Amino acid sequence: MNILGISAGFHDAAATVINHTGEILFAGHSERYSKRKNDANLCNELLLELCKWQYDTVAFYERPWMHNLQQLYSGQRDIGPWTTKGVLNKHLGAWYQNPARIEVCYSHHLSHAAAGFQTSPFDRATVVVIDAIGEFDTISIYGAEYDKTGKAVYKKLWGQKYPYSIGLFYSAITERIGLHPLDEEYITMGMAAYGEPKYADTMSILLQENLHIGIDHMFLPTATDVDIAASAQAIVEREIYSVMHRARAFNWSSNLVYQGGVALNCKANRNLGEYFENIWIMPSPGDSGSSLGAAALAYRGQINFEHAYLGREIGGEYPVDALINSLLRDRISGVASGRAEFGPRALGNRSLLADPRGPDIKDTVNEIKHRQKFRPFAPVILAEHVDQYFDMPRGFHSSPYMQSVGRCLRPDLYPAIVHVDGTSRVQTVSADSSSGIRKLLEAWCRLTGCPMLLNTSLNIRGEPMVNCRADADRFERLYGVEVHS
Ligand SMILES: [Fe+2]
Repeated sequence: MNILGISAGFHDAAATVINHTGEILFAGHSERYSKRKNDANLCNELLLELCKWQYDTVAFYERPWMHNLQQLYSGQRDIGPWTTKGVLNKHLGAWYQNPARIEVCYSHHLSHAAAGFQTSPFDRATVVVIDAIGEFDTISIYGAEYDKTGKAVYKKLWGQKYPYSIGLFYSAITERIGLHPLDEEYITMGMAAYGEPKYADTMSILLQENLHIGIDHMFLPTATDVDIAASAQAIVEREIYSVMHRARAFNWSSNLVYQGGVALNCKANRNLGEYFENIWIMPSPGDSGSSLGAAALAYRGQINFEHAYLGREIGGEYPVDALINSLLRDRISGVASGRAEFGPRALGNRSLLADPRGPDIKDTVNEIKHRQKFRPFAPVILAEHVDQYFDMPRGFHSSPYMQSVGRCLRPDLYPAIVHVDGTSRVQTVSADSSSGIRKLLEAWCRLTGCPMLLNTSLNIRGEPMVNCRADADRFERLYGVEVHS
């Protein structure tokens, strides 16, 4: 029997399956199955996948009654069931009926904290959660450790309540500049490097407002989008560092576990090493990762977390030779092999890969992906070579999940993977990784002397990442790029 953790009902619904020895059997996003970006509900295709296992416990990632109270308080009308049983019936329906099953729910921020701490390598850590809003919480600081029985114990050290919210502020700004909130904040972060933070003081007042209803589109009517983005980025960095300073001052631990959607701001993350010595941000720190957090709280102990390849399986050996041939011939190739990544980033199993050398490859890949020309791509590199190419920030020498940016030391040679501010969002792959991307990088380096590849997510424009082989076939047909499995 196993534990099923669920996060659903807001955005990015996900499910995680853990057995009773702390192994993760599955973790996946609903959107990858339904093809609806940020799907808020568990779709039938994902529920079908979940039928592979039996469950004695089902854990939900937040307390429905607290969520409803917050919705009413903030003037929202989207009220769901008030009880755990009600909310599980809503999301699971008749799919899984086990009269003996235990049904539990946990606080939204505690689920975030558990997803981070119980997958981290630490026995004791300061846990910081920053998101848009979870029930009434927008920032939480916990002291976390394991007791003598191995159970994770969390002590709340400090918290911030709605309406002040760093995450809601950044999402409202994302909408103000014409992007999709709760989805395209990473584009706002990329645009920030092109602007000047000249409105930071003026925009700071927004932090105290109810940003659930967005920002008036006439706010700063003459300001350019890039200056608004730069000002917002400056504000959130200042606010995040203030939280980190506060968290460190509790002197609980110099190990940081950082969770919540704001933890995906890899540009802000570059300075976390000023406050903490060791940093862990799991690959899915947002609400979808809280499906793992809820399951972890029900399990209670440390989870065996080795990698992010936890979703839908495409069987067979990782196609190293086929990829090398395509990369040498076309300089670009897709891969859909092994288990899909849990989290928003493609880490080599559902990736579009390219030779990062030279000035023209960025435009080629941008054309295929139909995306804004200003956006750079990320490098994936053999970890033992990272210092030759990137100045990595303190605390992020190893960056397996692209959680921070490092300064590129050779932008002249690799312009495709460098942002306008001189940084790159680096994925390192360590020598002890048994992943396919490790084998591919080793073969690529042996042949070319280059230890890295350009890595971007394999997805059709406007759709979530490729999940199964049929998705990969559609990608091939639409874009004329081979996708190997
Ligand atoms: Fe959250």
